[in-house]
Amino acid sequence: MGFAFPPPTFSMGTFLLALSIFLVLPELSAGITRHYKFDIRLQNLTRLCHTRSAVTVNGQFPGPKIVVREGDRVVVKVVNHIQNNITIHWHGIRQLQSQWADGPAYITQCPIQTGQSYVYDFTITGQRGTLWWHAHHSWLRATVYGPFIILPKRGASYPFPKPHKEVPMLLGEWFNEDPEAIISQALQTGAGPNVSEAHTINGLPGPLYNCSAKDTFKLKVKPGKTYLLRLINAALNDDLYFSIANHSMTVVETDASYVKPFDTDTILIGPGETTNVLLRAKPASPNATFFMAARTYNTGLGTIDNTTVAGLLEYSCTSSSSIKKLPLLKPTLPAINDTAAAANFSTKLRSLASTQFPANVPRTVDRRFYFTVGLGTRPCPKNQTCQGPNGTKFAASINNVSFVFPSMALLQAHYLARSNGVYTSDFPHNPPFPFNYTGTPPNNTFVRNGTRAVVLPFNTNVELVMQDTSIQGAESHPLHLHGYNFFIVGQGSGNYDPVNDPARFNLVDPVERNTAGVPSGGWIAIRFRADNPGVWLMHCHFDVHLSWGLVMAWVVNDGALPGQKLPPPPSDLPKC
Ligand code: C2O
Repeated sequence: MGFAFPPPTFSMGTFLLALSIFLVLPELSAGITRHYKFDIRLQNLTRLCHTRSAVTVNGQFPGPKIVVREGDRVVVKVVNHIQNNITIHWHGIRQLQSQWADGPAYITQCPIQTGQSYVYDFTITGQRGTLWWHAHHSWLRATVYGPFIILPKRGASYPFPKPHKEVPMLLGEWFNEDPEAIISQALQTGAGPNVSEAHTINGLPGPLYNCSAKDTFKLKVKPGKTYLLRLINAALNDDLYFSIANHSMTVVETDASYVKPFDTDTILIGPGETTNVLLRAKPASPNATFFMAARTYNTGLGTIDNTTVAGLLEYSCTSSSSIKKLPLLKPTLPAINDTAAAANFSTKLRSLASTQFPANVPRTVDRRFYFTVGLGTRPCPKNQTCQGPNGTKFAASINNVSFVFPSMALLQAHYLARSNGVYTSDFPHNPPFPFNYTGTPPNNTFVRNGTRAVVLPFNTNVELVMQDTSIQGAESHPLHLHGYNFFIVGQGSGNYDPVNDPARFNLVDPVERNTAGVPSGGWIAIRFRADNPGVWLMHCHFDVHLSWGLVMAWVVNDGALPGQKLPPPPSDLPKC
């Protein structure tokens, strides 16, 4: 770009001003570098009058909030001071050209061992909104999670009225017992793991539990103001309904993609998902306080945590002594197994699809896949009694393959072109034996173990239909894809019909997400373009299903151009 010397009519001051703007501008648009340090350490936490030692980041629960702008570079040094191995995953960050920073243990890196550290270094490209970070090894994310908020570039605005305040609201689960002990015992016996004792909002269970009234999340609002609630479902195993008494919400974003705004009394949010809603406070103080409550949506056969977390919405011009005298209003949440309410919510989501934020849906498809997702069983080892279905062990699978985590990182094996003995590239593209997936299950429900991947050429347009099965009970499954956003082009109940269903696909404004709820007893169709080379995990974000093997990996090969290739690993990449 040329920079002409100013004509003589310009004053020197104007020239210097113009020059300084010119010098400052490129720096603004390029973003800045934000440094964080995450010390992984144990911390005693007390909830429900029960104290236990928990794994935390910097002693905080929930963990520290990361706030950056689109275009920023984020550098997080993670130091492991505990006995367990750990990794951190930046859920929903695309990790373009920083594949080694994605975080799932044994997929993009070996875990960080005791006394070791690893620097996650990545740049936020083309994304803004609410995401989050969490541990990605075993069940450590139960207490190791926090918000990851990407503000629009400086000077850019939201495609909705600017809120008076922004409030992250992390929904989670509280376990009185150590979650690591719960999952290791369950994997040993083959039974379903113990469920949580409570749900939480920002780590707090609220007044509906014993010994918990002091641990209540409170949101003070001013009459007439609008608040942006950044909801994140960080629960391990529960889809959640969320509602606020006497207030409707306007949904404006999911998984850091803007949606066409719509009003709703209830939202459904699956583990891994985020939802931004606008909450308009009443124009005048309503002389009441309001519960904001969340409870499980579940259709499965197992035991669940059916308790309700509540936080308080208070209008600020009332003094705290008079607040106690005000009536307390409670929202009505859908019934725990209300699948119609779930479908009613999820089918309302549409991409904003504006000129500034277009929905770049792949219009053509290069490869089609049909995956069954659901539960299964595996035989009980000899000389052991198992407590899963009919004396077997519980398992879960995609296309009947139950994923076995390797002992070295798949991305390293791929990078070194040494997949031999680590993974195979023969993940089935279709169910290995057809049956009535949502009807009576087959007699044999044993899964096959494997570390199998699908290999895709760079820039493949993928269409993937994920079909729930009724084996061990139909259930919804929040399927999360690393490294990509995808578009949900279709969904329905029962079995997918490859002849008639595609005609109804939405290729105009389908919602763009990183986590998709496969409906209980139904199917979902997604599309994405494989333009991010690397190894990308796809799994059910219920940790119990993840532990049981409802996982697979996509290996996306390099493209021909520079910038389309997997870069070499950083020098501090942990060793196994
Ligand atoms: Cu938020 Cu692989 O996970």
